[in-house]
Amino acid sequence: MSDREQWSSQSGFILATIGSAVGLGNIWRFSYVAGENGGGAFLVLYLIYVFVIGLPLVIAELALGRRAQGDAIAAFDGPAPGSRWRYAGVFVGAGAVLILSYYSVIAGWALKYFTGASLGHLWDTASEGYGRYFQSFISHTGEPVIWQAAMLIAAALVVAGGVRGGIETLNRFLMPLLAVIIIGLAVFAVTLPGAQRGIAFLLAPDWSAFARAEVHAAALGQAFFSLGIGMAVFLTYGSYMPRSFPLPRSAVAIAAGDSCFAIVAGLAIFPAVFSFGIDPTSGPELAFITLPQVFLQMPVGILLGAAFFFLLSAAALTSMVSLLEVPVAILVQRLAMSRRRATALVGTAVLVLGLPSALSFGLLSDVRIGRHGILDAADAAVSNFLLPIGGILIALTVGWRLSRQDAIAESELQHPWLANAWLWVLMLMVPLTLATILLQSASAL
Ligand code: TRP
Repeated sequence: MSDREQWSSQSGFILATIGSAVGLGNIWRFSYVAGENGGGAFLVLYLIYVFVIGLPLVIAELALGRRAQGDAIAAFDGPAPGSRWRYAGVFVGAGAVLILSYYSVIAGWALKYFTGASLGHLWDTASEGYGRYFQSFISHTGEPVIWQAAMLIAAALVVAGGVRGGIETLNRFLMPLLAVIIIGLAVFAVTLPGAQRGIAFLLAPDWSAFARAEVHAAALGQAFFSLGIGMAVFLTYGSYMPRSFPLPRSAVAIAAGDSCFAIVAGLAIFPAVFSFGIDPTSGPELAFITLPQVFLQMPVGILLGAAFFFLLSAAALTSMVSLLEVPVAILVQRLAMSRRRATALVGTAVLVLGLPSALSFGLLSDVRIGRHGILDAADAAVSNFLLPIGGILIALTVGWRLSRQDAIAESELQHPWLANAWLWVLMLMVPLTLATILLQSASAL
């Protein structure tokens, strides 16, 4: 397929992959999961899983995608054309749509808060309390759907613009800006009075937490979600990568960029949380209820609050774009659809599929799936089942279905011991670790 698009430059490609990795996961999810799981110990485990399990999988996804020069189905089909393995491509495409269906809802909340923070009405509601503000917003029937749709339309416009003109251009412009904003927020937060306790919470590990299985599971799940592996996003982005880009170095840049972003986000959030005497274990609502309260008490807090919610919305947008690209690439290649048509179709499907999540705190708040409401159930299904299954499929394909020489050549790992270690991790360690997580999740149902 000679008319396939490619990234215009290596820096553009790296920024797009980091744009995919850095998202709600690094800011909203990382801060509350770290808060609930003891801070420092969680951070250490998360970093270990990012580099030991995550990085080899990022290399595997990029290598498999670049090898295929096609969509996710072509990538899984590549080692033995015509086998059932091609359905793995359908699975990850559908998985990306499911992730988008609730991710776009939370992205919509971020956009609503950014608008509220910049226009001022978010701050006017301080007297009624941000808990009330958040509750009345998410339990409304129309509003969350409208904001979700706004984020989806923005992401669809970018994807419709193509790999270079849309995705690469957006990330080139937004990612440097986001780095400046998050560093600025962190510098400000660590100089607040009493910030040390927040820094210690994030950086000083409580070693007893290492013995707790659920902290390990949370750290692994967070590593997968935050890097964005298992759903063929890097595989698809890798398929637009020319042979001349160095693969292992790109993968290291992605893993390092994503974890640095999470740490700096933690340094922006926890010092502020502790400085104002707030409980770091407040859960998913940390970013939407706790933080506005913190901003309001800060000097220039209104400006910082607007910057924070801009950051959250923009980071969510670049991740949504990457998830949208997976099914769009499949439709374009399989059904010979135009990119615009495919994007419109997937975007509409995501909106419809996302309605139950968007309404899960209002109209549908009585619907329970096990212990969860709808949106939480979707998130749990993704991190407990979908991502580990996707990770296993990719690890098995590269580790077992490609020949040893082929896999090592595609990875471009030069040192024999590094190449062997990488292959060993994919063949045994990833499948076994992820199978354990799957069993644990299944037994907890
Ligand atoms: N990594 C993104 C975040 O941290 C979300 C994301 C992008 C993702 N691509 C993914 C999650 C693929 C799972 C799978 O917010």
